[in-house]
Amino acid sequence: MNTQLEKAIIIKNEPWTPEYYLLEFSAPGISQKAAPGQFVHVKIPDRRDILLRRPFSIFKAESGTLSILYKSVGRGTRHMAKLHAGQAVNLLGPLGKGFPIPDTNKKTLLVAGGYGMAALYLTAARAQTPGLLFAGGAGKKDILCAQDFTALGWDVRLATEDGSCGTHGLVTNILDAWQARNGKSSEPELFACGPMGMLKAVAQRAKEWNCTAWISLDHYMACGMGACLACVQKINRDGEERLACTCKEGPVFEAREIIWEES
Ligand SMILES: Cc1cc2nc3c(=O)[nH]c(=O)nc-3n(C[C@H](O)[C@H](O)[C@H](O)COP(=O)(O)OP(=O)(O)OC[C@H]3O[C@@H](n4cnc5c(N)ncnc54)[C@H](O)[C@@H]3O)c2cc1C
Ligand code: FES
Repeated sequence: MNTQLEKAIIIKNEPWTPEYYLLEFSAPGISQKAAPGQFVHVKIPDRRDILLRRPFSIFKAESGTLSILYKSVGRGTRHMAKLHAGQAVNLLGPLGKGFPIPDTNKKTLLVAGGYGMAALYLTAARAQTPGLLFAGGAGKKDILCAQDFTALGWDVRLATEDGSCGTHGLVTNILDAWQARNGKSSEPELFACGPMGMLKAVAQRAKEWNCTAWISLDHYMACGMGACLACVQKINRDGEERLACTCKEGPVFEAREIIWEES
C-alpha cells in the first residue's frame, strides 16, 4: 500500500485569495507517491479537542514538497490558518483512488468549482496534451488558480454567477457552449470536482453526450481509510448495487456508476 504517515514540515502557510490559504509542506514520502485526484488527511496539530483528521485534495506535488489550497470554514481550518513555517504536521496520505490519466484520443475537459481547481491541477500538470479547463464560482474570489493552468498551456474558460470574472452564469453554461460548437468533431472526456450540484450537472451531460466523466465525490470523512463508513456512496458497479467508501474506492468514480440521491 502506498499510503503512509509522514511528519511534514510547513514551508509556508499564506493567504491565496480572500478566503483560501496555500499550505505548502516538505513531505518527500507522500509527495513522490501522490497521484492526481488523491487527498491527504491532516491531523490538526496542538488540538487534542479535534480528534478527527481533515481531508484536503493534493494541489501540487513536486520535488519533495506538497501543497493544498484550503478554505477556513470551521474549527480545524481556522486553526490551520494560524500555523506557521517550520511547524510539524502529521499527514496521512496519499489517500483514495484519484483521476485516471486522460485518454489521448479524446478532448480532455476539466470542470471545476471552488477547491475543485486545486484537485484537478495535477491531472492537467501530468496530462500528455493540454486540454480545456472550465472553472466557475459565485464570484471572482472563487476562481483559485486559473493562472497555474494557463502556465501549463491549458485553455482556461471562466464563468461566475455575479459576472465579476469570465462569462456571466454557471460553469455548465460555458461547457454547453463548447459542446454545441465542438461536440461533433471531438469526443470529450470529462473530469470534475466541485459542489454537488455542479457534479450532478456534469454527470447528466456525460449521459446526454454519451461520453465518460470522472467525478470526484468529496463526502464527509472520518477515518479516511475505509473503516468507519462515514463517507459511503451508493454505486452500481458491474450490475451490482452497493455502498462504496468514497475515501478508499473514490473519491473519483465514473459518472455512470454513481446512484445520485433524489433532491
Ligand atoms: C476528499 C476531500 C477533499 C477535500 N479537499 C479540500 C480542499 O482541497 N480544500 C478545501 O478547502 N476543502 C477541502 N475539503 C473539505 C474540507 O475537508 C473541509 O472543509 C474541512 O474538513 C472542514 O474542517 P473544519 O474543522 O474547519 O470544519 P468543521 O468545523 O468540521 O465544519 C465547518 C463547516 O464545514 C463543513 N464541512 C466540513 N467537512 C466538509 C466536507 N468534507 N465537505 C464539505 N463541507 C464540509 C461543515 O458542514 C460545516 O459547515 C475536502 C473534503 C474531502 C472529503
Ligand atoms: S471515512 Fe471512514 S470509511 Fe471513509
